[in-house]
This record gives sequence, structure tokens and C-alpha cells, in this order.
Amino acid sequence: MADRITIGILTGGGDCPGLNAVIRAVARRSFDRGDAAIGVREGWRGLVEGKLAELGRQEISGILPRGGTILGTSRTNPYTIEGGVERVLATVGEAGIDALVAVGGEDTLGVAARLHAEHGLPVVGVPKTIDNDLSATDYTFGFDTAVSIATEAIDRLHTTAESHNRVMVVEVMGRHTGWIAVMSGIASGADVILIPEHPITVEAACEEIRRRHARGKDFSIVVVSEGYELTTASGERAAVARPPAATDQFGHARLGGVGELLGREIEERTGFETRVTVLGHVQRGGTPTARDRVLATRFGLKAADLVKEGRFGTMAALHGDAIVAVPLAEAVAGLKTVPAEWYEVARAFFG
Ligand code: F6P
Repeated sequence: MADRITIGILTGGGDCPGLNAVIRAVARRSFDRGDAAIGVREGWRGLVEGKLAELGRQEISGILPRGGTILGTSRTNPYTIEGGVERVLATVGEAGIDALVAVGGEDTLGVAARLHAEHGLPVVGVPKTIDNDLSATDYTFGFDTAVSIATEAIDRLHTTAESHNRVMVVEVMGRHTGWIAVMSGIASGADVILIPEHPITVEAACEEIRRRHARGKDFSIVVVSEGYELTTASGERAAVARPPAATDQFGHARLGGVGELLGREIEERTGFETRVTVLGHVQRGGTPTARDRVLATRFGLKAADLVKEGRFGTMAALHGDAIVAVPLAEAVAGLKTVPAEWYEVARAFFG
């Protein structure tokens, strides 16, 4: 690597709390070394369309506790845009970007891994997503904040459920995996938790609620992950997506609505009055928890170090308590799903 380099920073995919902490850490470490940083606006779209932003000490001042991303984000996939990849490479060259730090989940980092493998793009990844479903890292930043927000919301629903003797169904995010549902459900003492990886049936969920009522508990808290497919004992399974059915540039449908359907089923089958709350993007907004700020900061410093060492095609990852480097390709090879042991912890408190 040249003595003084310019590092581009890009945040892609769904935003999450902690992105600004990463930007700050990458930039601070770069400035301290005499390197320069440049912001790429709106994820991969910024490199396709040449949208860049100045990133000096002024721009990163005061952003550590701020939610969202000062660079903006998008779900743009250059591989689905005619000439997109060529434009990305051209922008990198024209802007004098010597190395890129891509902060994202499976989609953003999937593009980074491919650009590195196919075109030698000098890129280092940082694992972000409230869903916590990225492989090769124990945790992604953003997840802890989302779980905290969901837990607080469920605590609040608990008290009103109890006052009214109602079943409260809470739909939380998690596109392919039930990490948020399981963790917030365990933390808030949920009576039933439904997730895509270990789909119990609607009948089984109703049975748990009835069992609880038979024990004299007149209210119940049911947490359902948006990716749970409504599953019945007859073997039917239906994924629930919101209209329009159109998918994004990575082929993902817009999820949401399973809570409403489940709530209706529970009320009809058990006769217990049921209400539904969809937490939605509240889980992604606002200030990061202290844990996420620290994790994002450590990831950012590591990414800047990996760049300086020329270790491209890697990603900063958390293993136990240590921040390590893993191959980007490994991180995006498959999703990290909720293992049976974790679901068993949740299950111990059902009914
Ligand atoms: O991947 C993060 C996530 O929040 C998922 O949990 C959710 O399904 C999706 O993004 C929502 O995406 P959008 O912000 O495009 O509605």
C-alpha cells in the first residue's frame, strides 16, 4: 500500500443503529495515520452513479450516538443494473479510492465478495444487520439495539395484556431468521415464540395458550418473527408478504403481516380476545445501545487496520470477545440461523 491512501466507506442495505459509529471509527483511524476518507452515498448506488461525499473530521464529529447513516443507504445491486459493475469500478478509479470499506449484511457484502473475487476490488467488509443472520461472526452490530427496543415494547404490551385479559401478538423483524424474536421473547418472558427455523404449528401455539389459561393466567404474549410461515397441523405452510409482491434488486419480497393472520387464527381457535402489534422499522431506528456502539467501533477500527495491511476480501468479525478477520466469502456463504439449543431455551417458558 502507498504511504497515504484514500479509503472509501459505503453503507448498504437496511440501515441500523451503529452505522455512524463504524464510519467514525474507520475515518478516525485513517486520519490518525495520515490517510484520507471519502464517503460513498447510498450504498452501491453511490458507486454506480458517482455519488460521493466529503468525509473529514467535521463530517464525523458528533455522530457516534446517532442512528441511521450519515452516508445514506439503498438496496441497489450493481449486478442487476446494465453496466453497473463497470460503473462501480470506474467510479472507484476516477475518485482515487485505493480501498473500500463496505458495511452491510448478506446482500451488500455478497456484492463486495463478488467484486473482490471477480475484479480484484480492494474491499474489506463490516457485518451489519439487526437480523444477526450473517455467518462467520458471532454477532452483527444493530442486533442488540433491535432486541432492546423489541424487549421494551413487549414489556409494555405485557402490562396492558394483563389488565385486559388479552392475547397480545407481537410481530418483530427478521427476514430469514428468528434471532430478534427468540432473544426479545426470552428477555421479555414470552409465552409462545414462532420463528422460521423451528416452525411450530398454529394449533400447537393455541394449545400453549389454552394450557396457560387453564393454569389461571388469563393473558398471553406471543412473539412472531415476520419470516415465520403460517404453519398448520395439516402440513400447510404459507409465507406472508405485503403487496406489492415485487421483490427488491436482491430478490427479497417485502415481508410483514403474519402477526395479523396469526392473531386472527388464535382468536378464532381459542376464543380469547387477541390484539396484534407490528413493531416494524421502530426496531431499526434511533440511537444504538452502548454494546452496539462499542462493537461497531471495534469493527470499524479493525476494518481500517485490515485495509492498511492490504488484507482485502476479508471481513471484521466477532469471535467470542475478540475481533478477528474472516474471509468475506465465508461470511456470505450461508445464513446463520437460530440453532435448536437457543429455541429450546425459549421453549422452556412456553405455556
Ligand atoms: O434486513 C433488515 C430488515 O430490517 C429485515 O428484518 C426486514 O425484513 C427488512 O430489512 C425490511 O426492509 P425495508 O427497510 O426495505 O422495508
